[in-house]
Amino acid sequence: MTDQYAVFGNPINHSKSPQIHGWFAEQTQQDLSYLPILAPEDDFQSSAERFFAEGGLGANVTVPFKLDALVFADQLSPRARRAGAVNTLQKGKQGMIYGDNTDGVGLVRDLTNNLGLSLQGKRVLLVGAGGAARGVVEPLIKAGVGRLKIANRTPEKAQQLIKIFHGLQQDSELSAGNWRSLEGSQYDLVINATSASLSGDLPPLPQGIFAPGALAYDMMYAAEPTSFMRWAQQEGAEQVADGLGMLVEQAAEAFFLWREVRPATQPVLQRLRHQLT
Ligand code: ATR
Repeated sequence: MTDQYAVFGNPINHSKSPQIHGWFAEQTQQDLSYLPILAPEDDFQSSAERFFAEGGLGANVTVPFKLDALVFADQLSPRARRAGAVNTLQKGKQGMIYGDNTDGVGLVRDLTNNLGLSLQGKRVLLVGAGGAARGVVEPLIKAGVGRLKIANRTPEKAQQLIKIFHGLQQDSELSAGNWRSLEGSQYDLVINATSASLSGDLPPLPQGIFAPGALAYDMMYAAEPTSFMRWAQQEGAEQVADGLGMLVEQAAEAFFLWREVRPATQPVLQRLRHQLT
């Protein structure tokens, strides 16, 4: 039987993961199938149980099931536990289900490998403190950023994130605050991890936050630049990027976990970009 993989979400029609993993499989000559599965919003567990009982070997998990997948997994990677979310499941020995989170590694790979950024010692501003932000804090710290500030509309949530990741890497300085606390500081990298772009909104960031040569990164992606990307460009960010590369890189990391083969991401990213525009 062909090895079976899947992505769970609701909705799932829009997901690019089946195409991405299909291209990875073709490129690395792996015989596998990868299907989208629409799970009921209130019953991820039954869908996932059925999939693995019927021979599924691994799955990606997207909105709104990343917390359900965390609970579903029998065993968690430390990074998934700290991220508080699972985006990759894998069936292990004796049917144990292992949960991991490749989102943060995907972001860091996109920044360093695709966009050519060195994170070592950099001043980074993470905008947002929800699930998407939490998933990327650990890999950013581990990549050696000098300073990581987390700013959020509800600053208490940013403070909570700092508590979770405090002490992970002694030489990264972590802090949290509201929009006003950003006034007068400059950053080499500003990452939008809020869901504001979804509704065309913009977090009210102060002017002048981009250091010379700064990169503005929106974890969302769309055919057109997001409102955050357009604002950043006007504000003088040297480079702006969306999250399509992160999507491909997190998928590649999941593929590697399952198949122990690392696919080339550039051609897949290019095909996807071409399709999107
Ligand atoms: P996700 O999993 O996408 O991170 P989430 O956990 O609901 O979703 O978090 C959404 C994030 O976007 C939060 O940081 C939220 O700010 P609050 O914590 O104050 O709610 C932020 N957010 C959503 N809409 C926003 C807006 N219009 N302006 C600023 N921040 C916004």
